[in-house]
Amino acid sequence: MLAGMHGEGDRKFPRGPQRGRPLPRRGRPGEPGGAAARAKGTSWEHVAAWYDKLTGDGGADYHRHLLIPAALRLLNVHAGQKVLDLCCGQGVLARALAQAGAAEVVGVDLSGALIQAARDRGGGEALRYVQADARALGPLADGSFDAAACLMAVHDVDDAGSLFRNLAAALKPAGRAVLVLMHPCFRVPRQSHWGWDDQLKTQYRRMDRYASEIAIPIATHPGARPGEHTMFFHRPLGTYLRLLASAGLAVTGGEELLSHHRSEPGGRSRAENRARGEFPVFLALQLLKLP
Ligand SMILES: C[S@@+](CC[C@H](N)C(=O)[O-])C[C@H]1O[C@@H](n2cnc3c(N)ncnc32)[C@H](O)[C@@H]1O
Repeated sequence: MLAGMHGEGDRKFPRGPQRGRPLPRRGRPGEPGGAAARAKGTSWEHVAAWYDKLTGDGGADYHRHLLIPAALRLLNVHAGQKVLDLCCGQGVLARALAQAGAAEVVGVDLSGALIQAARDRGGGEALRYVQADARALGPLADGSFDAAACLMAVHDVDDAGSLFRNLAAALKPAGRAVLVLMHPCFRVPRQSHWGWDDQLKTQYRRMDRYASEIAIPIATHPGARPGEHTMFFHRPLGTYLRLLASAGLAVTGGEELLSHHRSEPGGRSRAENRARGEFPVFLALQLLKLP
């Protein structure tokens, strides 16, 4: 997530009894824990008003400085193309894609309130929004898209394999995609922290867990509404690479995005800035649909 969500401030996540638990097993549609329950569980419907306000027209801090520029660079959308924005939220990337010249941008999200917020924010005739599940796109998985993006959302979806298969099915042969996510090697909410080594005068990154796939509840309003949370599904990088490969998506490029933030001069600012320059916050992967 972004500032105030699963971004640089992952130290801020409240520590509670639910420290992260193994990813839930997939249920069957209609069963408790099946498709309906899982859909409700990962939609951001319950926090839509908060997220829409936080993100605004042009995006929150990380959107504007890192995430959207990286997505546009790696996707390199050409005029006239048809682009899919999977898990589009309130349409912040979809609007940027339309501005970049895409002829048609289809934004998909599970949350009806965020889809409505996206429509209300306008952005031109090229934009169309559909409330749908990224794990089961139905008629949208029709092989008609030149390009696709999934921005800061794959870790909010419990079944990344289905998301990748649907993304691939939506693309034309040799279609391109970009996946931008919290860097799984350095940013695991509640399991990664900054630490200070007083002897070496060094700020270090501490990882408490990495290889385990874990579901982590993230409080959206710690303090004010203690029960309100979204779920974050951490997977190690190897899991993402394996799932992409089995969906027929080749990784053709990527960027590890470093924070643009700088500490005020004084105190530990040099060490903090050096650490920011060493440990990326986000990972952006450029993908190609294999024939
Ligand atoms: C962190 S938000 C990111 C939204 C947007 N891409 C952005 O950068 O602002 C994650 C989004 O994933 C959506 N989402 C979660 N599970 C989904 C699913 N199975 N299908 C479609 N959207 C889903 C949520 O409703 C939410 O809008």
